[in-house]
Amino acid sequence: MTGRVEGKICVVTGGAGSIGAATARRLAAEGGRVAIADLAADAAEAAAASIRTDGGEASAYGVDVTDPAAVERLYADVHHRYGRIDVCFNNAGVLLEGDSDPISTPLDLWLRVLQINQTSVFLCLKYQLPYLIEAGGGSIINTASMVALQGAATPQIAYDATKGAIVTISRDVAITYARMGIRCNALCPGPVETPLYQTIFGGDPEALARRLVHNPMGRVGRPDEIANAVLYLASDESSWTTGTAFLVDGGITYAYTTPES
Ligand SMILES: NC(=O)c1ccc[n+]([C@@H]2O[C@H](COP(=O)([O-])OP(=O)(O)OC[C@H]3O[C@@H](n4cnc5c(N)ncnc54)[C@H](O)[C@@H]3O)[C@@H](O)[C@H]2O)c1
Repeated sequence: MTGRVEGKICVVTGGAGSIGAATARRLAAEGGRVAIADLAADAAEAAAASIRTDGGEASAYGVDVTDPAAVERLYADVHHRYGRIDVCFNNAGVLLEGDSDPISTPLDLWLRVLQINQTSVFLCLKYQLPYLIEAGGGSIINTASMVALQGAATPQIAYDATKGAIVTISRDVAITYARMGIRCNALCPGPVETPLYQTIFGGDPEALARRLVHNPMGRVGRPDEIANAVLYLASDESSWTTGTAFLVDGGITYAYTTPES
């Protein structure tokens, strides 16, 4: 039996993190040959080793996605190793403490978040697109967030700005390269049970409860639920899906009120 991304060469940035590692594992389980790239080189290697132990194919790359030379090298190395690139999940991102409203957020923090969450995606696109063009097509999935589509009285102004930009960037790439067989979608997860999500609350259970009430299903998402969406967007099943802000959020973005119990 063939998998849903059988033989596709998939590059996952932030691949050692919660959503990235779950996705790398899911893609490998469906026949993808996965390159896991992360700043945390040891964790990337551990994620790849664990996939290999389970019979999947994965390799690891220690890469800072804000470093243009390192990003260029990543895609050149993956191409050299596998001979082509088919799927790029540009997913590395951070939510930094101190990112809040415009008055209190320091400029250097703002600039740092833009570098890690937004410029990194530009760099990945810059150096991966030539290989997708060479391959005659491919699928790009850029991780945005539901915060690109709705407002909050508890802003993380730099983070929110970068995620809005990811939706715009993804749309332009989708349209520009549509006739070259390249699709590009912005993945917009709602709140997912990860350490990144927990950083919002700083361990405050009251703040967590206040947020939880907005989730129609009464719970946040799991990394494997996001991985399933990426698998769909990576596979040929989504062959007519491009340029979207692809929401996977348990209904939170479109909820005006939520059930009481
Ligand atoms: N967790 C959520 O609730 C949620 C919701 C919406 C969107 N997202 C987005 O999903 C993506 C993944 O988030 P996550 O929850 O898995 O977080 P995570 O912290 O578990 O994973 C992020 C990964 O990115 C890596 N990384 C950070 N800076 C990097 C750099 N400069 N170069 C290379 N790698 C770097 C980290 O080492 C980490 O492994 C992020 O873009 C995040 O903004 C998360």
